[in-house]
Amino acid sequence: MWTIDTILGDITQFPADAIVNAANCSLLGGGGVDGAIHRAAGPELLEECRTLRGCETGQAKLTKGYRLPARYILHTPGPIWRGGTAGEAELLASSYRSCMALAAEHGCKSVAFPSISTGVYRFPLELAAPIAVQTVAQCLEAGSCVERVTFVCFSPAVRKAYEQALNRK
Ligand code: APR
Repeated sequence: MWTIDTILGDITQFPADAIVNAANCSLLGGGGVDGAIHRAAGPELLEECRTLRGCETGQAKLTKGYRLPARYILHTPGPIWRGGTAGEAELLASSYRSCMALAAEHGCKSVAFPSISTGVYRFPLELAAPIAVQTVAQCLEAGSCVERVTFVCFSPAVRKAYEQALNRK
């Protein structure tokens, strides 16, 4: 059996087997949750990221968690919102699917996601939350070793959007 839930908090402190980083294609850090994760994980994270040679939008790459409570970090560049007609919805779903697949490949039982692409990348929250919840639920229903997915929301408004998406699932 599997569960999907939401909490209000800082993903860098969340003790999942893997936490997801809303990265950019360079994988060399940035602001937002990317910056927070690099600060909390320490300098070895950037050293490992440098060996990964970037990542395409919608794909995901794994590193160790270093000083984080999480064992692994799954780095995925979500899509930049360009109005909704450039395949953004499918690319966002792909980011979630890629992270779920990589987590399962590494035997993770728990995964924590931030609200990918809804900050600097300006993907509308009310559109992103249902895509995130439905994609993760599809991966879990298809049979995955992942048993628990948590959306770690940085503000009450974000948590409300994910709770509403969960209730409509
Ligand atoms: N824990 C959980 N969520 C967080 C945290 C945190 N510590 N810090 C920020 N967030 C939330 C934001 O409030 C937002 O809801 O993560 C969500 C994603 O926002 P961004 O971090 O701006 O990510 P994104 O919109 O995907 O843009 C990615 O921003 O930081 C750069 O390098 C990154 O270029 C990339 C771009």
